[in-house]
Amino acid sequence: MMSGVCGMKAEACEMKRPGKDAPIGVFDSGVGGISVLRKMISLMPNENYIYYGDSANAPYGDRSDEEVLSLTENVFDYLLSEGVKGIVVACNTATSVAVRRLRGRYPDLPIVGIEPAIKPAAKNHEGGRIVVMATSVTLRRPKFAHLMESFRQSAEIISMACPSIVDFVEKDKMNSQELMNYLTKKFAALGDRPADAVVLGCTHYPILLPKIQKYTPKHIRIVAQGEYVARSLHSKKAIPGHFC
Ligand code: DGL
Repeated sequence: MMSGVCGMKAEACEMKRPGKDAPIGVFDSGVGGISVLRKMISLMPNENYIYYGDSANAPYGDRSDEEVLSLTENVFDYLLSEGVKGIVVACNTATSVAVRRLRGRYPDLPIVGIEPAIKPAAKNHEGGRIVVMATSVTLRRPKFAHLMESFRQSAEIISMACPSIVDFVEKDKMNSQELMNYLTKKFAALGDRPADAVVLGCTHYPILLPKIQKYTPKHIRIVAQGEYVARSLHSKKAIPGHFC
């Protein structure tokens, strides 16, 4: 019996605790989370996965917190109805708005959220200048303010809101001149002082890696989060199962 997971009282809940063969749910507002899923599959190839990309409602990054929460809850309901044994929210935006609340609602369900990989960037570039690209929602949430605060001593963190990028990816306009102009403008706004690292704080951005590399000098490290999420999931055994 899995009290809480189905949102009903324990005695009324018919749902069985999923076994270790049950799939891991991986969710994003669209296709971006596939960049995380790929790393999970390469590290944990014997797990089963269900990926839910909510492309019909993307981008989440321009929505109100209430909308993001309600969309995320709908996806959780769906994944739970499919019998997942845990959920990886491979979306920074949904994590920052909804994960805390969902952990309260589903206390027995392993829920893994993600955050921009500032930690490894700051570790490798102490005292450096780190640019964090993310959606407006991710950057305006207190979770991000706390994250920035905790690295204030180690690096200069500059946030770069890139709300439109998700749309370029979801609408398959990745080779458009419009996107080139958008990125040119964004990077020009950083001024003359070069960054030491650029953190991709949205799971859609690694899909555009070659384009982003075009605007950043060769020595600048570009840090995506998929690898870190997969490794941490694997080492902490955050979702019990095979994890081979
Ligand atoms: N991939 C999502 C993230 O990591 C994009 C959110 C959106 O749809 O704006 O934040």
